[in-house]
Amino acid sequence: MKVLVVGGGGREHALVMKIAESDRVEKVYCAPGNAGIAVDAELVDLEDSDLSGLLAFARDEEIGLTVVGPEVPLCAGIVDLFTENGLRIFGPNRAAAELEGSKVFAKKLMQKHMIPTASFRAFSDQDEAMTYLRTVLDWPVVIKADGLAAGKGVVIVQGLEDAEETITSIMADRQFGEAGRTVVVEEFLNGEEASILAFTDGATIAVLEASQDHKAARDGDRGPNTGGMGAYSPAPIVTDRVLDQVSRDILVPLVHALRKEERPYRGILYAGLMIGKGGAKVLEFNVRFGDPETQVVLPRLKTDLVELMEATIDGTLEQVELEWDPRAAMCVVMAAAGYPGAYARGKRIHGIGDANALEGVTVFHAGTRIEDGDLVTAGGRVLGVTALGDDLAAARDRAYEAVEKITWEGILYRKDIGYRAL
Ligand code: AMP
Ligand code: GLY
Repeated sequence: MKVLVVGGGGREHALVMKIAESDRVEKVYCAPGNAGIAVDAELVDLEDSDLSGLLAFARDEEIGLTVVGPEVPLCAGIVDLFTENGLRIFGPNRAAAELEGSKVFAKKLMQKHMIPTASFRAFSDQDEAMTYLRTVLDWPVVIKADGLAAGKGVVIVQGLEDAEETITSIMADRQFGEAGRTVVVEEFLNGEEASILAFTDGATIAVLEASQDHKAARDGDRGPNTGGMGAYSPAPIVTDRVLDQVSRDILVPLVHALRKEERPYRGILYAGLMIGKGGAKVLEFNVRFGDPETQVVLPRLKTDLVELMEATIDGTLEQVELEWDPRAAMCVVMAAAGYPGAYARGKRIHGIGDANALEGVTVFHAGTRIEDGDLVTAGGRVLGVTALGDDLAAARDRAYEAVEKITWEGILYRKDIGYRAL
């Protein structure tokens, strides 16, 4: 079977590599991919937002399975389009993808079905939002743009002045475009974060090993929020007890709720959790694999990923057994200096071969391309260096050993990935 992966970051590189391992797969394509993915798959020159182009390609090439990495095409209805045209595709349809596409939808669904999450209010009127914020006694609070904002639409505000500025920039100046037409104002939760990914076919839920990412740009979880600067799996904070609670209070009710709302969910579900004194609460749901969580979870998965995806589509997930490599995985994201703000591109990258040669190490490409025959940086997050080790400390040591072999002009990476667990 031929498989098409849609997207072009580190997550998609990890997906491509895992999919290529499957006995069921004869060839992997990736649209648009990147310079690293080009080694493991044939690149297709189509953006992930070009739904009709992707459909035409999948039809012409007789693609047996399309796997969607990012949220944007899912929320735009790529699964509906492919399914209507008789093509097999992995991911939730547009109605189910609203779980990520609208924070107001997700929060109301959780409220209605008593799924633990921060208490909240939603506002489409700026004056009403401000009137409410003037009554807040407990700071900080969290302000979120309703729609998709590439992970940037969340602001933690420390007081009224801060809140007013944030509301103005989101709702009046449309910093995140139409995503900011409505906002959610929610309670600030304390605790430690973890990510849980689960396959579901709408009936069975297959929970993957937990992971934790580091969203802040700088060591000690300081600095601005990013797409993720590193991750590790397993996440010791997610004990068996926490996992039971997450299944019972969050995942099972959610899958039922979506079915009841006539938005049955098929695909991978990402629960971003805050684990505090009262147990786990939902920070957000995503309707796709996490990035960089995928780069530490998939290298540990022994089960055939394509089998899991096909069972999810066919509604036979109940029959698939998950098997794990007991080793730990750690991923250090190497970014371009300046990220998540403005950064330079086109810097020549050296040392990836030496890093990849270390045992248990895989260098996933996130933002790279070939320019005049040289490998150069082409994004904010450039590489994700993953290492497996007997425990998290061993995985970390190996990951950083690999990181130190890689150079370009203006490198940025965190030196403390995994510090909470170690
Ligand atoms: P989200 O995209 O909703 O996961 O938010 C991005 C990041 O903002 C999360 O990973 C948390 O670090 C933080 N965050 C979001 N909501 C809250 C909350 N209610 N309380 C505390 N931190 C939050
Ligand atoms: N690592 C966070 C995300 O994928 O949204």
